[in-house]
Amino acid sequence: MVILETERLILRTLELADLDSVMSFWGDIEVMRYCGGPGTRERELRALQYYMNMQKDKGFSPYLTILKESEEVIGVCGFNPPNNGYDTELMYHFAKEYWGKGYATEAAKACIDYAKKHLKIKKIGASIDPENNSSQKVLKKLGFNYVGMKWCEGTNQDEPYFEMIL
Ligand SMILES: CC(C)(COP(=O)(O)OP(=O)(O)OC[C@H]1O[C@@H](n2cnc3c(N)ncnc32)[C@H](O)[C@@H]1OP(=O)(O)O)[C@@H](O)C(=O)NCCC(=O)NCCS
Repeated sequence: MVILETERLILRTLELADLDSVMSFWGDIEVMRYCGGPGTRERELRALQYYMNMQKDKGFSPYLTILKESEEVIGVCGFNPPNNGYDTELMYHFAKEYWGKGYATEAAKACIDYAKKHLKIKKIGASIDPENNSSQKVLKKLGFNYVGMKWCEGTNQDEPYFEMIL
């Protein structure tokens, strides 16, 4: 199901058949350096199933991001499950060869606009590894506000926490 279209991108819901495509970023040690490390095919197949269920239950999830021009899958961008205090967490993971082209910001901006129009989301949160400068840059460009350092269970460290109230 296509969720969004931007000038250069199409975002659609994930499917199990996307496994080969998502391994180009979820299986990459450098891409996943600040996001829990690279996954095996078995783990990412479970992730796809989890996100498909989440889309059915909650009406939102991370979306496969495709270049309109070439139909290449370049990454994933969208919404992680609610956590303590926020309705969803913004997420974006892009294959290395597509960094530095503005795609992450373009996709994330479209997701936020979509949430404003179509979803019952009031607060989007994002915790970022303190060394992940390019991700913090994206959040600032999108208009997220820095709230402060917050303990992150997943990574066992204090991380800069940002949020956006819709
Ligand atoms: C975080 C991540 C998505 C950021 O990607 P990115 O490509 O740096 O971010 P953007 O899409 O906003 O691109 C920004 C750059 O594209 C450049 N650019 C080139 N063409 C552009 C265009 N047409 N429009 C806008 N920007 C363009 C900009 O100059 C900008 O560089 P700058 O920020 O140094 O000025 C990417 O590094 C990534 O996937 N990392 C691994 C996963 C990750 O850490 N995710 C987040 C936390 S878990």
